[in-house]
Amino acid sequence: MNRNKEGPVPVRPLPETGQTEDGRLAVNGGDPVRCTPWPTYDKGAVFVHSEDEEAALRAIRSHLYFRYDYRSQQDTECGRFEEELCRYFGSKHALAVSSGTTALALAIMAAGIPPGSLIACPGFTFVATPSAIVLAGCTPILVEVDENLHMDVDDLRRRWTPEIKGILVVHMRGFAADMEAVTRFAADVGVPVFEDAVPALGAELKGRKLGTFGLAGAFSTQSDKSLNCGEGGFLATDDSVLFARAVVLSGAYEGRFRRHFPDGETPIATDLDLPLFSFRMDEIRAALLRAEMTRLPMRLERFRGNYAYVAAALSDLPQIAIRQPVAPGAYLGEAFIFRVPGVDAKWFARALCCEGVDARNLGSDEDTNVRVFWNWRFMFGARGVEEIKALLPNTTRYLEQAVDIPLSSNLSAQDCDHLIRAVRKVAAAVASARDPRTPLAGGYASADQDSARPADPVTGLADTAPVGQ
Ligand SMILES: Cc1ncc(COP(=O)(O)O)c(C=O)c1O
Repeated sequence: MNRNKEGPVPVRPLPETGQTEDGRLAVNGGDPVRCTPWPTYDKGAVFVHSEDEEAALRAIRSHLYFRYDYRSQQDTECGRFEEELCRYFGSKHALAVSSGTTALALAIMAAGIPPGSLIACPGFTFVATPSAIVLAGCTPILVEVDENLHMDVDDLRRRWTPEIKGILVVHMRGFAADMEAVTRFAADVGVPVFEDAVPALGAELKGRKLGTFGLAGAFSTQSDKSLNCGEGGFLATDDSVLFARAVVLSGAYEGRFRRHFPDGETPIATDLDLPLFSFRMDEIRAALLRAEMTRLPMRLERFRGNYAYVAAALSDLPQIAIRQPVAPGAYLGEAFIFRVPGVDAKWFARALCCEGVDARNLGSDEDTNVRVFWNWRFMFGARGVEEIKALLPNTTRYLEQAVDIPLSSNLSAQDCDHLIRAVRKVAAAVASARDPRTPLAGGYASADQDSARPADPVTGLADTAPVGQ
């Protein structure tokens, strides 16, 4: 078991901004920036504190694993976790469930969206988002994202039809969507907004927690999320009817939904009108999550501290367009994403991997990343990949240009510096094109190609159009 402990955010000076490596790129046989594995949760970088072990043991020793036994809501781990979530999010209701996907599907079903309806969602999200729409008996309709990978509300307006009965917005890779624009548009057309806040647990937009802007917010407590009990999730909402229906749908049978309303007033009369899906959470996971909740502020501080440090140290690089938040600080910090227009992003990501930093070209055609819409084949029948890509040409272009680097909350100051050095090293090779094996998007590097281009006023990049187009 990995017993890493989170500590306070380390205080660090900004690193030198000059080129830090004088050797060849590791992808071309040079020495890598680092030789140790890049820390990620799936390599065991999960924090375990003694209070987590005690909490899990407490639940085990209680011999009561099921949340709906003879105890009252307030005496169960799930019930207490939900109470703590309500306090944390300032929401009226919270429901702990089996996953983020089920939380999303429950929100749609409990809102009374008729099966068969269209639900809009962005073309850049984890496959679980459109899958949850399908699970709720509806059909996803995809919307473009902008150059910063946020759902493009103008495109949503263009694609709008009266068959769309809800908007499922996603705070993808921890970055807030433009909730002001989304909620204003939703109010205009008269449909509810559901928030997939799965990747952004604890992040805020202008002082308000993500997941509290829409009719309901869905979260996950699986693996790499801000709270991690292996699997799990929850729903937060102020809508009492939606909440009561979600409780029943999640599997509170034979009147057990009443326990969620301790003052005796229930917003629905019966549970017999709804099917039951057994999307419940269990007591052991709820106990573990309650222990982790006490350290959530520290974990969030670490995510944000690491992200701010890395982004500031790379902000002057003209070769990369760092993903911009919709408002200052409106991100969690669990991933560092930038685009490299004009350069082969697959090669850029591979070069970073060779330097010892996990990096992935989001739109690579060499893997089947389920965060890109053309790999959601279940939605498109017999259509081929190119035909699917043509449905969202902007999203396709931006994802093909994007490099995605996971930032675990346990990155050390040295890990962050390695990342900064690696990106600077690869970008420097692109800029100087001194290594003829540095591929640009439309061909191979030559010293002339970069120098003559004017800087783009928005991105600061030397050129935003791929070479050769
Ligand atoms: C954007 C997004 N939505 C939904 C989910 C699904 O969460 P879960 O795995 O808990 O079902 C994920 C999982 O990572 C996600 O990234």
